[in-house]
Amino acid sequence: MKARLTQAWVALALGAVAVVGLAASARAQAPWEAPAAEKAKKNPSPSDPKTVEQGKKVAQINCVSCHGAMGKGDGVAAAALSPKPADWTSKKVQAESDGEIFWKISTGRGAMPSWKHLPESERWALVRYIRSLGGK
Ligand code: HEC
Repeated sequence: MKARLTQAWVALALGAVAVVGLAASARAQAPWEAPAAEKAKKNPSPSDPKTVEQGKKVAQINCVSCHGAMGKGDGVAAAALSPKPADWTSKKVQAESDGEIFWKISTGRGAMPSWKHLPESERWALVRYIRSLGGK
């Protein structure tokens, strides 16, 4: 009797995991796009090595666990995630406007947290840093 009950709970738990997984993958299939007005936003931070360095520091504290030390989307937590953290060096990310990247950092989706609590200047510096990784 006790074993039966345990089995039922295990089945229920597995079912719940499957449902959550399905919901997550269904959400992941939709393209992730910023609204046009957000895409058009210009990066107000200076385009200089100092800003890139600032962005790198913020990324090292907050992002490497998922996006990896070089931004390739291969951080230690990446293995457990689907969809995978974006590869910042990829053509796909590099083809996006600064405004779009800023909006995605600010908004988040699924396993990607929202970083709205970081000052705007730090988020724009992150965009400068991500840009500096293009072609690497
Ligand atoms: C807990 C893991 C995790 C952390 C921490 C994390 N990300 Fe992400 N990130 C993701 C995942 C997963 C995605 C893919 C989301 C999707 O496509 O639905 C993503 C996507 C992105 C994208 C979108 C790329 C694109 O163009 O589609 C950007 C930009 C990004 N992350 C930047 C950051 C920055 C900057 C930080 C640190 C401030 C950060 N992320 C921290 C998991 C993470």
